[in-house]
Amino acid sequence: MCGIVGYIGKNQALPFLLDGLKRLEYRGYDSSGICLKNNSGFYLAKKPGRISELESQIDQILAKGNIGIAHTRWATHGAPNEINSHPHVDCKGSIAIVHNGIIENYNSLKELLKGEGHIFVSDTDSEVVAHLVEKFYEGDLEVAVKKSLKLIEGAYALAVLDKTSEKIVVTRKSSPLVLGIGVGEIFVASDVPAMLSKTKRVIYLDDNEVAVLTKDGYAVKNINGFVVDKEIYEVAMDVEQIEKKGFKYFMLKEIFEQPEAIENTLRGRIKDGKIRLSVNFNPREINRIIITACGTSWYSGLIGKYLIEKLSGISVEVDYASEFRYRNPIVRQDDLIIVISQSGETADTLAALEEAKKKGAKTLGIINVVGSTIAREVDSGIYLHAGPEIGVASTKAFTCQVTALTLFALYLKQERGDLPSDVILEIENIPQKIKEILKKSEEIRELAKIFKDAKNFLYLGRNLNFPVALEGALKLKEISYIHAEGYPAAEMKHGPIALVDKHMPVVFICPQDAVYSKIISNMQEIKAREGNVIAVINKEDPKIRDLANYVIKVPETIDELSPIINVVPLQLLAYHIADLKGLNVDKPRNLAKSVTVE
Ligand code: F6R
Repeated sequence: MCGIVGYIGKNQALPFLLDGLKRLEYRGYDSSGICLKNNSGFYLAKKPGRISELESQIDQILAKGNIGIAHTRWATHGAPNEINSHPHVDCKGSIAIVHNGIIENYNSLKELLKGEGHIFVSDTDSEVVAHLVEKFYEGDLEVAVKKSLKLIEGAYALAVLDKTSEKIVVTRKSSPLVLGIGVGEIFVASDVPAMLSKTKRVIYLDDNEVAVLTKDGYAVKNINGFVVDKEIYEVAMDVEQIEKKGFKYFMLKEIFEQPEAIENTLRGRIKDGKIRLSVNFNPREINRIIITACGTSWYSGLIGKYLIEKLSGISVEVDYASEFRYRNPIVRQDDLIIVISQSGETADTLAALEEAKKKGAKTLGIINVVGSTIAREVDSGIYLHAGPEIGVASTKAFTCQVTALTLFALYLKQERGDLPSDVILEIENIPQKIKEILKKSEEIRELAKIFKDAKNFLYLGRNLNFPVALEGALKLKEISYIHAEGYPAAEMKHGPIALVDKHMPVVFICPQDAVYSKIISNMQEIKAREGNVIAVINKEDPKIRDLANYVIKVPETIDELSPIINVVPLQLLAYHIADLKGLNVDKPRNLAKSVTVE
């Protein structure tokens, strides 16, 4: 959701800025722009639509300079048009800014600045920053930015240039920003993949820090002007990891990466039949767990509830982060709050975490992106090590989150004196079993051909596979734009069954588990209304073959691990339907990979 890229150094800025923007495309955007600084002033270009459209409008002769900032915008205030695109400039066109986040008090600031004679051209909240810096500018850009920050409320990552000095000033609050340290050059971006082809040495800025970047290096200070000694991290990911490796879409690549990603989540965490996690709280002192997250991560949290309650006996609540943060939740000191986030930057999840910390609870993060804001804010964490997830629709992060939650549930069971468990033995077989399902990708594509023009879908599951039904429906709707709903199978009688007729595909997730006979009855109810049944099964059963119009068979596993297996064919079904419809699977409309606004 919005992306910032910046460059200062010995080389031309433009190639890096364009490449960096493209590598941030996964965050979601609807316009883009650049500003280069050279001896004759600023070169500015902005364009709604794809980055390729910006690129084709750039004048290669004029677009020169060793200093530059660039931006992909995901519209919040004002339509996605050229005027609202970043960079924004002040009245004199001598200060340029790019902004990610939301300036909450922009209305009052705009009125104040207009009263002082500033002329605004866009509908954005971001433009106030350019005018504020102009208001305070007396020859020192850093001082002007700092004075502006004192007036700004909200969330921001900012990169600011002026026409006269050879520097970029950057800062952040509740929005990510990373510096890349090169030789004779400094990079800045919203996320590491933007700079990975140039450097692996990075610095994660923290809230309220201001960094001044020059050709000779960088200086990071806190808001009071004291120099902060920042640690330089060596990033482990490679450029190849963020490329498509021959797959048509990142999403398909990421579905196929799941066996390896899950192995990485498990690596080093099971030894001699014991779970090894490092947390800095005493599991015996936890009385209740609250899991909070958004979207797909919330669904993995729901599976986590079933697993933790079943394996450890601790009661678990699952709350949408956006609700948790505003409902003054009852949080006790002996509660553990688990936040789950692939990106580690989701604004609502971060705010829920802050609320939990304020109330004195212990916190645990289940996060994929190393060094992300949430990862740095939690008391303890379990990194997924799933590798970068670029496709907007989450796939491998989901299965790795469920894997991490299973490990954590087992860990609680162990620390409360109650191991072994057959789950430990079976979990290491899961990657191989997913490989078996991936071999069915073409078979699932054939099924997708039959259903690609459906207008609606129902997904039904019970118990641990009810959240899988929710996730299957979400995957389909977000990338294929087909309306889909997930339900607990028995709940279907209480309303949604009214929708069922011969045009309604109904996907049943029905492994032979403790509730198998119940779900068969639910299937009969759908069949009686001529619904088109697609059943995901793990054992042959003539009864199912009679009832279902189509069957996808997955390998058998134990009940606790069946969600990780069962979601894979649903990811493939959604992927193939969207691809057959000719849609851009990796960048569905209106969606952003990292939702850094509430
Ligand atoms: C759906 C999807 C979203 C995210 C949600 C939370 O495929 O990706 O629903 O799960 O926006 O994002 P994270 O996990 O980064 O906090």
